Amino acid sequence: MRRLPFTKLFGRTGMNLDDQVCYCFHVSRRKLVNWVRQNAPKVPSQLSMCGGAGTGCGWCIPFLKQIFRQGTGTPRAGCGACHTAPDDTLDALTPEEYAALRADYVKAGHGTPPPGAEPLPEAKEEG
Ligand code: FES
Repeated sequence: MRRLPFTKLFGRTGMNLDDQVCYCFHVSRRKLVNWVRQNAPKVPSQLSMCGGAGTGCGWCIPFLKQIFRQGTGTPRAGCGACHTAPDDTLDALTPEEYAALRADYVKAGHGTPPPGAEPLPEAKEEG
């Protein structure tokens, strides 16, 4: 019998404010949203001043850009083909899906988490 993830059992489908967005530096969505609200950044890269978010493996950068756009009302730039994450991605992914996608990103050699980063989830057991 296939077991449903905990979040699906209780109807949770997306990342909430207490979930980590930057696993390398343990920065939650709430912290980032509040930081944008309080600091009115001009460019997404300024979110790195919020606990170092985005300066580790780089996985969370598209999501930091999403939080920046949502918090500042900035339209996304570039063409549709340039976008790696739609604006509602954080609301569409469960924390488990987000962590699994980050693990795939790191295992594919796209970035190296710093010491102290959230460990990658264990490989799922077959059966
Ligand atoms: S998850 Fe944010 S830099 Fe690695």
